[in-house]
Amino acid sequence: MIGRISSTDSRDTVCGGKQTVTIEDRDKLRYVESTIKEVLRIAKPVVLAIYRTNPREIKVEKYTIPAESIILFDLNDPQIDPKLWDRPNEFDPDRWETPQKNVYIPFGIGPRRCVGAPTVELSLFFMITNILNKFELIPEDERNLPMERDWTGISLFPKPFKIFMKTVEY
Ligand code: HEM
Repeated sequence: MIGRISSTDSRDTVCGGKQTVTIEDRDKLRYVESTIKEVLRIAKPVVLAIYRTNPREIKVEKYTIPAESIILFDLNDPQIDPKLWDRPNEFDPDRWETPQKNVYIPFGIGPRRCVGAPTVELSLFFMITNILNKFELIPEDERNLPMERDWTGISLFPKPFKIFMKTVEY
């Protein structure tokens, strides 16, 4: 993934040798955007949405939900549902080159959707591109990439792992 970003979207070819990647470069770095989306789809940073309640009894398919229930909905199952996604468990940023069905909900959905979402997306873009603009990231052991995750209750994050940062020469 990192190799693909740094080789196809390198500073010389895309960012014109700039020291710092800026907002003007965003449209040219579509693969980075696709990679961020795919990470947020498959890595499940937040597991559950904030709970909702229903003022009246409702029916959802064969289930009756009594009025004023506490409703927690899982944000992740729809993002890896084989009925909605092709190869759902495969990490594939290229899938974002074509429009995807409306089940991408890492920031929740509706009026209570995460207010931080635009800031998060922009911050991830700046962090990732500016790190890769200056460094090559090399895992400690290429054959044993860190896939294990830990969780705090509602959020998932990678277990600690070592990575070497090598300055990129232009
Ligand atoms: C990767 C980072 C983040 C993820 C994946 C994330 C995800 C979420 C999710 C799933 C919800 C619940 C939405 C729902 O119930 O429909 C939420 C709510 C919220 N998030 Fe985030 N969030 C992130 C970062 C942030 C940041 C940086 C901020 C603040 C700048 C923030 C502020 C909020 C607030 C205020 C709510 C409550 C919104 C409401 O109840 O109306 N989040 N977030």
